[in-house]
Amino acid sequence: MPTAIEVRSLVKRYGTLAAIGGVDFSVPAGTVFAFLGPNGAGKTTTTEILEGLRRRTSGDVRVLGLDPWTEGRTLHRRIGVIPQDFRFFEKITPKEAVEYYRTLFHTDVDPGRLLAQVELLDKMHARFDTLSGGQKQKLGLALALTNNPEICFLDEPTTGLDPHARRAIWAVIRNLKREGRTVFLTTHYLEEAELLADQVAIIHHGRIIAAGTPGEIIRIHGIPPRISVEGPEELAGYLRAHLTASVFSERGRVEVELADRRDALKILSAIEESGIPWQAFETRQDTLENVFVRLVGQMDDGALKSEAPG
Ligand SMILES: Nc1ncnc2c1ncn2[C@@H]1O[C@H](COP(=O)(O)OP(=O)(O)O)[C@@H](O)[C@H]1O
Ligand SMILES: [Mg+2]
Repeated sequence: MPTAIEVRSLVKRYGTLAAIGGVDFSVPAGTVFAFLGPNGAGKTTTTEILEGLRRRTSGDVRVLGLDPWTEGRTLHRRIGVIPQDFRFFEKITPKEAVEYYRTLFHTDVDPGRLLAQVELLDKMHARFDTLSGGQKQKLGLALALTNNPEICFLDEPTTGLDPHARRAIWAVIRNLKREGRTVFLTTHYLEEAELLADQVAIIHHGRIIAAGTPGEIIRIHGIPPRISVEGPEELAGYLRAHLTASVFSERGRVEVELADRRDALKILSAIEESGIPWQAFETRQDTLENVFVRLVGQMDDGALKSEAPG
């Protein structure tokens, strides 16, 4: 698969602040890449450097093989962008907005077809200031698609939207991928990254602290899965005596760490052989959200310690 985006040792300084402190990643063409991080992590800075809207301090960046800063004019014909907090002229309708973009990009895209693609056909003639937050974002997506881009850059496309509107945007993003486009998405919603992205990079204070598929990140940075049942403390005691695995007991639930999948039957047999009543069997898996909160927390603790005097 060809590479759509390639970033090596990217640094961006604002005065003395290193907003991006040496970041590396690459995005294969035709995949969805999520840049996940809390506010101020450096998501917009990175996105706008890739779009050719901000100049990097140092490092090597290639988007579709081009340097976004020196070859921005060529690049802009091949990418689509929705900025964070997308806004538009208040009195303009989605149809007029698409027509306006069409003249900017010299394309002959049909406004009806494009607005249907983002499920906004019913609001084609509504004024921008009467659209809901989700509808405005959909218009942003439609405009980003006017030039039939190879890569779409979406900076927090669902922030502040209600769950229904977010799902509608997710459906459009899935379609972009189906059409073979590359999607570069920033978000601070964990489940969004988990649901949509082929690859995720977690960024915090301008550094990538974990990267890979959501599954890989959970496997490498997460805690092992657990077998969990409702049962008394006595059951935990029995299992500790009969198993080598770690056993936890809290609020009426007994949990056994499943470090090796092959131990699953052994653990279940021991629970049954204890003769102690149990119910409500479950398996518990670490989520990307747990991993994210733990990694960010550990980093912040570390930073506090290293800043502490003495
Ligand atoms: N134009 C700018 N001038 C100075 N500092 C900036 C500028 N833009 C962003 N920053 C700072 O850089 C850091 C990263 O910001 P940003 O890339 O917007 O993060 P995110 O999009 O992840 O919320 C923040 O500390 C922010 O205050
Ligand atoms: Mg941002």
